[in-house]
Amino acid sequence: MSAIRANEPREQWRTSSWRTRPAEQQPNWPDAEDLKDAEATLAGLPPLVIASEARRLTSALAQVSRGEAFVLQAGDCAESFREFSADCIRDKLKVILQMAVTLTYAAGVPVVKVGRIAGQFAKPRTSPVERIDAVELEAFRGHMVNDEAFDPVARRPDASRLVAAYHQAAATLNLLRAFTKGGFADLSLVHRWNQQFVASSNQGRRYEQIAGEIDRALRFMAACGIDLAAEESLHETDFWTGHEALILEYEEALTRQDSLTGDWVDTSAHFLWIGERTRQLGGAHVEFCSGVINPIGVKLGPSTTPDEVLALCAVLDPERTPGRLTLITRIGTGRVADVLPPLIETVRDAGHPVVWVCDPMHGNTFTSENGRKTRRFGDIVEELREWFGVHRAMGSWPGGVHVELTGDDVTECLGGAEAIGEDDLGQRYTTMCDPRLNARQSLDLAFDVAELLRS
Ligand code: PEP
Ligand code: CO
Repeated sequence: MSAIRANEPREQWRTSSWRTRPAEQQPNWPDAEDLKDAEATLAGLPPLVIASEARRLTSALAQVSRGEAFVLQAGDCAESFREFSADCIRDKLKVILQMAVTLTYAAGVPVVKVGRIAGQFAKPRTSPVERIDAVELEAFRGHMVNDEAFDPVARRPDASRLVAAYHQAAATLNLLRAFTKGGFADLSLVHRWNQQFVASSNQGRRYEQIAGEIDRALRFMAACGIDLAAEESLHETDFWTGHEALILEYEEALTRQDSLTGDWVDTSAHFLWIGERTRQLGGAHVEFCSGVINPIGVKLGPSTTPDEVLALCAVLDPERTPGRLTLITRIGTGRVADVLPPLIETVRDAGHPVVWVCDPMHGNTFTSENGRKTRRFGDIVEELREWFGVHRAMGSWPGGVHVELTGDDVTECLGGAEAIGEDDLGQRYTTMCDPRLNARQSLDLAFDVAELLRS
């Protein structure tokens, strides 16, 4: 990773100051004029989120940093311009609400919910090109940039997609707000979040039991004379949006100054994270994120050193603000006990009140014999087990999990209670990028995490 020292005086941050830094993982936009037009269009559109929301999420994450809450970050690896129906959004929300209520009920902690949704349209890639036989094309970089079809026209980066991504994010966020503030997230409706194909499974039945107990608890409170109708938190919930801040033209164009405080807020989402491939200390992504007030995440892979993390903390959280910085480790099963302890120790010694989150997905991806990218459910649970173990041993708070999932009945990850095998992967493998947990596997994972949290 390239080096600028954290305590070196830095030139003044502007929404565009990232442009003077090297930016990894950017598309080769073929038409500079188109790109300028898209940026100008975005700059004139209303914000998707506002500064006070970003501040409220920071406060919620500050609670997590103090060990008083847990954060669940979940959603698609890459959102699709084609899968964008109300049902699709609702089913994803259902499984995230189910996981959250399971965690809250079984482990007794409040759960902060952050979707990988309403903006998760851009992907970093291991290789900038994809080759099939003698044909080499630009890699698929997410629907914000190009299309996944292996075709020269489809793969050509098209800046008008930045604007299309904004409009889809706006419509998605609108429905999420309606669902979570308009009754769908009401605790008296927990049974309705259990989709048919989930309810018939063991995990689904286990969930039904919790749902029944919640019903009973609500009836008990009502019988005690508590006015349930007046208890807002029983009827609606906060659901925050988040995505990888990868295409910085999009992020810059949606960054606005809060007229009350002068703070800069990236209004494309509440939470933004920097990926494992773009977290270079002198790089454009770190520069951009250092200047906006949104809570920021950084993905940390197995090769991360304590010095790198320390420098990232210094640049991204110079004031040591609780909730400002979330460190999302994605190390891979079998290596957590070696890699994680020195990172936790260094950050703690430096006094940064970070939130620690485990992404047990991205360090456990491999290609199956029949050529499908996949992950084993058992590896995912095992990385979580190792990760919770390290935090317990070191007396630090295991603050949350970050997973890729869908509300659909897909066959993309191996194992789980349904024992999906390599030969089953082809049945319903619909992801455009990484393999996701299906709704049953997601719920299964929530029960495992609840147990880890409790123990
Ligand atoms: C992702 O979250 O989809 C991703 C690409 O993660 P990472 O940066 O950790 O590889
Ligand atoms: Co992914």
